[in-house]
Amino acid sequence: MTKPVKIILDCDPGHDDAAAILMAAVHPAIEMKAVTVVAGNQTLEKTARNALNVCSASGRCGLIPVAAGMSRPIVRQQVIAGDIHGVSGLDGPSFGPPDIEMDPRHAVDLIIETLMASDGDITVVPTGPLSNMAMALRMEPRIAGKIEQIVLMGGAYQLGNVTPSAEFNIYADPEAAHIVFTCGRPIVMMGLDVTRKVLATPDVIARVRSLGSTQAVLFAEMMEFFAKTQKEIFGWEGPPLHDPTTIAWLIDPGCVEVKPMRVEIELRGELAYGRTCCDFFGLENSNDSPGSVTFVEKSALDRPKSANARVAVDINAARFWDIVYETFAMYGK
Ligand code: BDR
Ligand code: CA
Repeated sequence: MTKPVKIILDCDPGHDDAAAILMAAVHPAIEMKAVTVVAGNQTLEKTARNALNVCSASGRCGLIPVAAGMSRPIVRQQVIAGDIHGVSGLDGPSFGPPDIEMDPRHAVDLIIETLMASDGDITVVPTGPLSNMAMALRMEPRIAGKIEQIVLMGGAYQLGNVTPSAEFNIYADPEAAHIVFTCGRPIVMMGLDVTRKVLATPDVIARVRSLGSTQAVLFAEMMEFFAKTQKEIFGWEGPPLHDPTTIAWLIDPGCVEVKPMRVEIELRGELAYGRTCCDFFGLENSNDSPGSVTFVEKSALDRPKSANARVAVDINAARFWDIVYETFAMYGK
């Protein structure tokens, strides 16, 4: 049996973050070293409480530190997604008192300590705004050399979900995203282009619910609330299960097709602030890339720009839902 992938899950629960936590906590292919929390879908106070509730409900996180981190983005004014995730950030299910406590460390310190003490074999999995990761990279730049890879949910090479151009996690802290996308470590980007292909339709929810465990029922209750707001705002027949695509990819990379691309974050545009500008066609790979314009002054736009991320371009939805189902089945009855 291959060794489990060690991860730090950096999240902002959030319904789909919560599903990602529940999957990562139980699957033997994943070893969670820490759950770090950032403001995003709601304020930090709420996302941290939600993370603790979900970790507690998993029954598998007793020894895993859960720490709260950045309550604000690095530069921009704070935005939250209460319209999608509700007033609590995780509306729908109710939780009893958690049986675990918050780790007293700041999440940024926990990320730094965990990475620096590692053998360079930890994958960082951000499923919220990248404020914690960016701050950790700035506070201790040596952590870059300790990150095996970053597998994140965020961005899109096509359409946004908070503006026509931008996806929420990147829009909520574009400057942080810039720091992460330029850190020089391998990045896998699960963007809206694929997460919109995995909608938790009623049949998917019923299939997981039928497993009968507390965690499977929790998944179903969360998805039923998430479905309502996604239907109202986007008209989807089910909520896109964004964040668990990262965990599914770690369990079975064959379920997602990725393509190397240059990804840069728009930081100055008025209309496209927070967009992940993805060079899908490799137009800027070199000065004579097919389709590129001819530059009269050689260094005018700092070319060539090589790929810095593998961007998800397709997902096998049936396989993805089997992974979700099989993973929740690991909780038993
Ligand atoms: C992302 O934004 C949040 O609302 C979700 O949790 C997900 O991480 C999708 O744009
Ligand atoms: Ca999230």
